[in-house]
Amino acid sequence: MRIDIITVLPELLKSPFEASILKRAIEKGIVEVHMHNLRDYTDLSYNQVDDYQFGGGAGMVLMIEPIDKCISSLKAERDYDEIIYMTPDGVTLNQKTANSLSLVENIIILCGHYKGVDQRVRDAYITKEISVGDYVLSGGELAAAILCDSIIRLIPGVLGNETSALTDTFQDNLLAPPVYTRPSEYKGLKVPDVLLSGNFPKIEEWRENKAYERTKTLRPDLLNE
Ligand code: ADE
Repeated sequence: MRIDIITVLPELLKSPFEASILKRAIEKGIVEVHMHNLRDYTDLSYNQVDDYQFGGGAGMVLMIEPIDKCISSLKAERDYDEIIYMTPDGVTLNQKTANSLSLVENIIILCGHYKGVDQRVRDAYITKEISVGDYVLSGGELAAAILCDSIIRLIPGVLGNETSALTDTFQDNLLAPPVYTRPSEYKGLKVPDVLLSGNFPKIEEWRENKAYERTKTLRPDLLNE
């Protein structure tokens, strides 16, 4: 998979890809992530990429021309399955979207900033608008990092233990059951006996029940999806 991220703040997007699972996925050659600084695609002085909104109003808007130049130069090199715009008014990211995006070849992610981007960019180029939740971030960069993490860890070969993504919370519309590790007792706090029993069918049944109980208590909405 190849992911191209268009941003005015590439430095904000460095560290998520330099540690742990995402770093390993890149080192293994399973995914390529390329940052494109929007300021490299403007001919205006001071590398200007934003301007005041027509009609008045507070806040700057990212201009269409540098975004068009950047997207066009990428599209001249290869086909893209999706051109995604990170925005709080997009569709809220969930596991189903992450699953389906983990199967595609090439994605462009455009990070909004300030008041957002000129609407003509959204109308003409964007194929999907994604939000990471009903709150407003300073820009789309951290949201793009969340989206990339949720996708990349699902690509086959990225996680060492192939089954572990399959048992994640949300993978089957259930929250994950509780987990424990050593010691089996700490200051009187005990691990449930069943997990120490070695009876694997019973352990599986216990986990399924706990996952269901937890979902019913904390996220009953998931059971109706
Ligand atoms: N940009 C600003 N806030 C955002 C959000 N909640 N999701 C995606 N992109 C954003």
